[in-house]
Amino acid sequence: MELKEKIVQHKAKISVIGLGYVGLPLAVEFSKAGFDVTGIEVDKDKVKMINQGNSYIQDVKQSELRELVRRGKLKATGDFSVLKEMDAVSICVPTPLRKTRDPDISYILAAVEEIAKYLHNGQLIVLESTTYPGTTREIILPKLASKKFLVGKDFYLAFSPERIDPGNREYTLKNTPKIVSGITRKCTGITSLLYKQIIDEVVPVSTTESAEMVKLLENTFRIVNVGLVNEIALICDRLKLDTWEVIDAAATKPFGFMPFYPGPGLGGHCIPVDPHYLSWKLKALNFYARFIELAGEINSKMPEFLVGKIDAALNERKKSIKGSKILILGVAYKSNLSDTRESPALDVMRLLREKGGRVVYSDPHVPQVEGLKSIRLTKSSLRNADCVVITTAHSGYDYKEIVENARLVIDSRNATKGIKSKKIIKL
Ligand SMILES: NC(=O)c1ccc[n+]([C@@H]2O[C@H](COP(=O)([O-])OP(=O)(O)OC[C@H]3O[C@@H](n4cnc5c(N)ncnc54)[C@H](O)[C@@H]3O)[C@@H](O)[C@H]2O)c1
Repeated sequence: MELKEKIVQHKAKISVIGLGYVGLPLAVEFSKAGFDVTGIEVDKDKVKMINQGNSYIQDVKQSELRELVRRGKLKATGDFSVLKEMDAVSICVPTPLRKTRDPDISYILAAVEEIAKYLHNGQLIVLESTTYPGTTREIILPKLASKKFLVGKDFYLAFSPERIDPGNREYTLKNTPKIVSGITRKCTGITSLLYKQIIDEVVPVSTTESAEMVKLLENTFRIVNVGLVNEIALICDRLKLDTWEVIDAAATKPFGFMPFYPGPGLGGHCIPVDPHYLSWKLKALNFYARFIELAGEINSKMPEFLVGKIDAALNERKKSIKGSKILILGVAYKSNLSDTRESPALDVMRLLREKGGRVVYSDPHVPQVEGLKSIRLTKSSLRNADCVVITTAHSGYDYKEIVENARLVIDSRNATKGIKSKKIIKL
């Protein structure tokens, strides 16, 4: 049976390489549609958990996963030789930065090396990991194609960036349009057909470079706008204006303005990282991506700015950071999630500790981080702290109670909006 036929009949065997925040929801969605899905994961604990029907990703429902595993629709393995049997393969491995802030595509290369061993006629390979323009064609294609084994004829290769927004209930994998582009037109066609089985709208673009660039534009748009609004917060601070009031009022304009909000800095695996893939690529072309670098610079200074605010507020109360008990509320990088990757709260805690602060934290989603354990948020833990700092606006917190019991609240997220108290100091 041809690949097209297998896809339409949901008989194609699909593999997802890398079962993290992106890969696991994708694997689940394909298996929910009736495909047989095998996830390949190097982390043995994750393999075990999936095969036992246990979810470790908040957006993937335990009951749903369990049912799919029970019915044999979804399984996980660390053995790449299963690729021999697979009709389509999605690569969802991490793409972090090196210490030097250069792209680290070694995870993609490791996955492709394994794929190359088992590549066979009619197989489709799709890269979903965020990366710089040119990766699919310049790096992956030469590792898979040969004079005797042609792309678009003997096998198919495409790039389709993942757009998942962890914790977003309104826009999920299914109702977020998916960008697709193959090395050849046939590659684009077959990849679009595959994703149309699980996603409402597929948007083909002309080249894999263009598809790679789309994702980087989206994330650059966010890093730059967050950088801008963080600078507006610094400006409002100098002018002694309420940043949040200014933004909310500007947001009443029904056209030509989109609100972004300041905070203690950028977090997560994508926004602080991905745009640097683009600026790195451009440096090689003698082009300096100024907006990205500038936004990165402003955003990375926000933890220090917040610590400055804490310092000033304690000083006002004849106290110093040194020796003060400081309770951090929220260490996840985003509200209602447990993900702490690149979380600015961790930078804030580090800076406070360096200044001699006695730092504790409470986060209902993160029981422990960097050797610290989350403490219970009680009236007495609030009263015992010299200062309470809201770094992540989890919706489970009772902000009224926090303000009532705390001696001083530094709110970097406007989580206490609507609560009037002299104890609150906002970013
Ligand atoms: N998390 C997001 O919100 C998000 C959104 C859009 C795009 N992305 C992009 O998607 C990609 C994956 O991100 P993520 O957040 O899912 O990362 P993740 O770290 O949660 O998951 C990646 C998984 O891949 C596994 N892995 C690493 N090397 C492997 C290999 N050679 N073979 C098999 N498995 C391997 C890891 O053990 C891990 O479980 C990145 O490029 C990221 O930029 C992430």
